Amino acid sequence: MKKINHIGIAVEKIDDYIAFYRDTLGLTVEGTETVEEQKVKVAFLTIGDTRIELLEPTSPESPIAKFMEKKGPGVHHLAFEVDNITAELAKLKEKGVKLIDENPRCGAHHTKIAFIHPKESKGVLVELTESGTH
Ligand code: CO
Repeated sequence: MKKINHIGIAVEKIDDYIAFYRDTLGLTVEGTETVEEQKVKVAFLTIGDTRIELLEPTSPESPIAKFMEKKGPGVHHLAFEVDNITAELAKLKEKGVKLIDENPRCGAHHTKIAFIHPKESKGVLVELTESGTH
């Protein structure tokens, strides 16, 4: 575990939030992309070497839509950066940690990601993220 890579925030409309984070707070928009597999549109805003990840559902079936149905817009997950996500997942499995993703899947920006079950972290959803090789 190296650092907090980003903080994921569930939003209804990314554009409404960009106005605040970019225009009011002065953060830089690193990019926007759609991750089909997770049915979300994602925008990354840079703050130092960490990011804010805005997550907008592209379908009512999106896990982000379901999250907002229960809890409303707000902080959705913390992403911890790791060097080798496959090795970290194996270690966690060995320790009996409940995982949402037993195997890494594709995240935005060519990353590999996996979520730990929020029961383990007492209600906070934790994502592990391994940066892509560019
Ligand atoms: Co994330």
